Amino acid sequence: MLKDKRILLIVAGGIAAYKALELVRRLQDQGARVRGILTAGGANFITPLALAALTGDKVHENLFSLTEESEMGHIRLARDCDLVAVVPATAHLMAKMAAGMADDLAATVLLATDKPILLAPAMNVVMWNHPATQANRALLEKRGVRFVGPGAGDLACGEVGSGRLAEVPDILAAIAALATPDQPLQGLRALVTSGPTREPIDPVRFIANHSSGKQGHAIAHALAGLGAEVTLVTGPVGLADPDGIRVVKVETAQQMLAACLKALPADVAVCAAAVADWRVKKPGAQKIKKVKGAAPPVLELVANPDILATLAALGADRPGLLIGFAAETEDVVKHATAKRQTKGCDWILGNDVGPESGTFGGDANTIHLVDSSGVETWPALSKDEVADRLAKRIALALVARPPRPGKGKRR
Ligand code: CTP
Repeated sequence: MLKDKRILLIVAGGIAAYKALELVRRLQDQGARVRGILTAGGANFITPLALAALTGDKVHENLFSLTEESEMGHIRLARDCDLVAVVPATAHLMAKMAAGMADDLAATVLLATDKPILLAPAMNVVMWNHPATQANRALLEKRGVRFVGPGAGDLACGEVGSGRLAEVPDILAAIAALATPDQPLQGLRALVTSGPTREPIDPVRFIANHSSGKQGHAIAHALAGLGAEVTLVTGPVGLADPDGIRVVKVETAQQMLAACLKALPADVAVCAAAVADWRVKKPGAQKIKKVKGAAPPVLELVANPDILATLAALGADRPGLLIGFAAETEDVVKHATAKRQTKGCDWILGNDVGPESGTFGGDANTIHLVDSSGVETWPALSKDEVADRLAKRIALALVARPPRPGKGKRR
């Protein structure tokens, strides 16, 4: 996701500096190229050798380096990157930035850069809450500097409160969002199912449901908008094919499953289709005729494959992030929570599809997102807004995960 992005990582002096080394690895996993600047304070906590070994580049420490400054090294460092991240950012460095000081290489580069800057502060809780630090934070934010964290919890100094360095996956997600603001899903593959399925009774009749496909199609469109390579497997709907998306049209649940398996691997799959749970065991080869005086035919049904559950059980081919919907007419959150377990997916989006909800065929939807940490209820949104919100959530979740070697990504 960060393929070929050049990240300039400034490591300042704090005990959390060691986590910057892990961040280098995670950035490289995402395809980024990392250069390091180590402040004098930072060098008290990690060695230049550790940073150089991980970045595969020399570590820049001195503003007045004879060799580098003959080529205006600080200006080049400040400009030859896509983003500057300071991890950890100390109260002192924040104060220098706020004051516009340039008394060492890190501060000078931060003053000389015209690229986005992300700070991940880490310090004692009283230092973080101090009016001076908070005023500096507010001023820097006003100037466009972005912050991730700090988090709350036990601090290295033995105190408890705000001041912990943000978790590495959150820093990674923040870097990705800043470095690729428009296309955070570039290089990732998405599979979306949409619409109803039709299960034939005979060549002219079928069993189906009220699904319009609007929500699934909107999700496919939103994921493509964030740069994902999307395959949309859809049952029969009255919607135009979304632009720039590979659309596979199917009728039955069995065809939908086959098309989904063919579309793998995928970094994310969203099963929004309303798949018929049963099909007619032996559909008539010809139109079933009314025979005068005879009883109506009895249709014997058999279970259809559960596409979402099948994808969840795939093992190595399982999509990296698997998302289902729970279409319910009562106790939406309860049923959605249970379905997440039984289907084995990561997230489930519960929604009310009862006749008075207007969800099926309508343009609005109220979502209850259930994941491993609990339930989050979204306000009533248009289906396009639900799709945009979900796509952004997916982007954040995917960038925070280490890549799955050889799976969805094509790099
Ligand atoms: N789903 C699927 N294949 C099926 C049935 C459902 O992939 N044969 C998926 C849907 O796309 C959705 C999720 O499973 O993401 C839940 O679908 P839903 O219709 O809400 O539930 P069912 O599994 O059909 O269970 P029930 O009818 O008992 O509510």
